[in-house]
Amino acid sequence: MALTLLTLGLWASTALSQTSSSVFDFPEYPPPGTPDPNSTLGQSVSALPYGIGNDSQLSQARIHYDTGTFGPQIELVHAYYNYWPTGVGVASDGTIFTCFPRGNETFTLAVFNSSTSEAAWPNEEWNTPPAFANVSNPGYSIATDKLIFVQSVVVDGIDRVWALDTGRPRVNGTYLLAAVPGGPKLVGFYLNGTSFVTYTFPDYVVYADSSINDVRFDLRGGGYAYITDSSPYHPALVVVDLATGESWRHLDGHVAVTPDPNFVPVYDGVPFYYHPIIPPNAIQFMSAFAADGIALSADGEYIYVTPLTSRHLYRVPTSYLKQQPSSVNPYAALLAHEAVQTLGEFGGHADGLETDSTGYIYVGSQEHNAIHRYNATTGIVEPFIRSPFIQWADTLSVVTLQNGGGTYLYFTSNQLWLAPDYQNGTDLRTKPYAMFRVPTVGGRATQTD
Ligand SMILES: *[C@@H]1O[C@H](CO)[C@@H](O)[C@H](O)[C@H]1NC(C)=O
Ligand SMILES: *[C@@H]1O[C@H](CO)[C@@H](O)[C@H](O)[C@H]1NC(C)=O
Ligand SMILES: *[C@@H]1O[C@H](CO)[C@@H](O)[C@H](O)[C@H]1NC(C)=O
Ligand SMILES: *[C@@H]1O[C@H](CO)[C@@H](O)[C@H](O)[C@H]1NC(C)=O
Ligand SMILES: *[C@@H]1O[C@H](CO)[C@@H](O)[C@H](O)[C@H]1NC(C)=O
Ligand SMILES: *[C@@H]1O[C@H](CO)[C@@H](O)[C@H](O)[C@H]1NC(C)=O
Ligand SMILES: *[C@@H]1O[C@H](CO)[C@@H](O)[C@H](O)[C@H]1NC(C)=O
Ligand SMILES: *[C@@H]1O[C@H](CO)[C@@H](O)[C@H](O)[C@H]1NC(C)=O
Ligand SMILES: *[C@@H]1O[C@H](CO)[C@@H](O)[C@H](O)[C@H]1NC(C)=O
Repeated sequence: MALTLLTLGLWASTALSQTSSSVFDFPEYPPPGTPDPNSTLGQSVSALPYGIGNDSQLSQARIHYDTGTFGPQIELVHAYYNYWPTGVGVASDGTIFTCFPRGNETFTLAVFNSSTSEAAWPNEEWNTPPAFANVSNPGYSIATDKLIFVQSVVVDGIDRVWALDTGRPRVNGTYLLAAVPGGPKLVGFYLNGTSFVTYTFPDYVVYADSSINDVRFDLRGGGYAYITDSSPYHPALVVVDLATGESWRHLDGHVAVTPDPNFVPVYDGVPFYYHPIIPPNAIQFMSAFAADGIALSADGEYIYVTPLTSRHLYRVPTSYLKQQPSSVNPYAALLAHEAVQTLGEFGGHADGLETDSTGYIYVGSQEHNAIHRYNATTGIVEPFIRSPFIQWADTLSVVTLQNGGGTYLYFTSNQLWLAPDYQNGTDLRTKPYAMFRVPTVGGRATQTD
């Protein structure tokens, strides 16, 4: 084994020292920030591996090793000591919005009011529905203008804040109530907290057991919103015509939005099986999570999507999604299904996806404590950042900060698979949860006229 490692180490050094014709030349290998590949074991680890490592000569050996890190340094921007976060949206003035899936949390949409605390946004009233459960309709939540369970908060290309409400609160820490129309909604706010629109959905667009998860906006013309339905029962996309408020579904049951049934991911090196909190507590494959993250290409021509539990990336031309399936447009659903492009595997699996103005599609890579980026010109997933501190990059948000403040990718790191839901009721997460940012070349893709 030691011999094999030494051989590999030498081969890697040789490959790296070449300037062309190496398989590692594209796009950039090793990724920026990777420690010097010529480091010796003696420099890299305090204790040499047990065994022949006692040989003092070996401390000079160039044995290739993995530091778990590459790319620009990530910057910790927020430590969450209170609620467990999912979403992040950043305005160009640097205001940072976040959201909390709601059980008994007193607010679900928030703004940072210090580097370690959050406040209800736009205010407590918006975050306080009259009830969560409908006592006269057991198992169901209620219809309300107020925010029930905000799964995602997105700042659009003209600095407006959108809250995507699943309408399905968790009750007693275990299950989600079913939604009724008027519960699930998309609410738009100006930065000053004034709301300007609320879109709700008929029960044949967002079902009682749907789970609307994340959203992206194309503000050109009248505008469209594209939403994932991550329910394993109804994986699909939901499209909203922002001008008319009409909404419809696409890609129902398509593989592009459907979990891989035999998915076994690896987190921090450990193969992971889903151990649900709900009786009979039988261990399952990590396969209950459909399309979650979503990105709109910078030019607005494609929606990129991947099921949370799948290592395949897909995209579909938005021209097909904009067609509302109906009796006057009876082929629209079929044509959208047939228009999906399979982009192949992307070397991991993602929760959040995001775009920047140069056209990159950022993809979380939960199994590698990383975020990568897909280059549509080459069809290759390029390394971007990796750090042991990235413990489930849940949601990604690119922003161009005003007054030369720079361009950044912000992301939450929330240890999702360590939560009680996934661990038979035991909470293996440790506070604080984190939000990081990292500089990007491209800024926000504004997707406006
Ligand atoms: C690694 O060592 C080799 C051999 O000494 C040298 O040619 C090469 O430039 C070194 N690479 C780096 C990145 O320092
Ligand atoms: C190797 O190193 C370990 C830890 O320093 C020590 O306990 C052990 O006795 C050493 N073995 C030999 C053969 O020197
Ligand atoms: C932030 O908001 C929370 C909730 O309203 C409040 O308890 C806390 O005092 C605020 N902290 C700061 C620093 O303003
Ligand atoms: C509660 O359920 C009853 C019975 O289905 C229904 O009539 C009522 O509108 C529901 N209330 C709310 C606030 O959703
Ligand atoms: C939550 O649990 C309490 C105590 O077991 C129970 O009384 C209540 O009905 C439960 N709520 C719902 C909506 O199931
Ligand atoms: C809220 O729910 C969490 C998880 O179910 C539980 O640990 C916590 O004690 C609850 N807090 C309150 C105030 O009920
Ligand atoms: C909030 O901002 C909107 C858009 O800029 C503006 O029309 C509205 O008057 C503002 N409301 C308040 C209360 O300042
Ligand atoms: C993708 O790769 C091409 C070819 O190397 C390069 O020109 C381009 O800058 C890369 N980035 C994007 C966003 O296309
Ligand atoms: C899961 O939790 C339940 C309830 O606490 C317990 O009875 C069961 O033994 C646990 N199962 C495993 C495999 O740990």
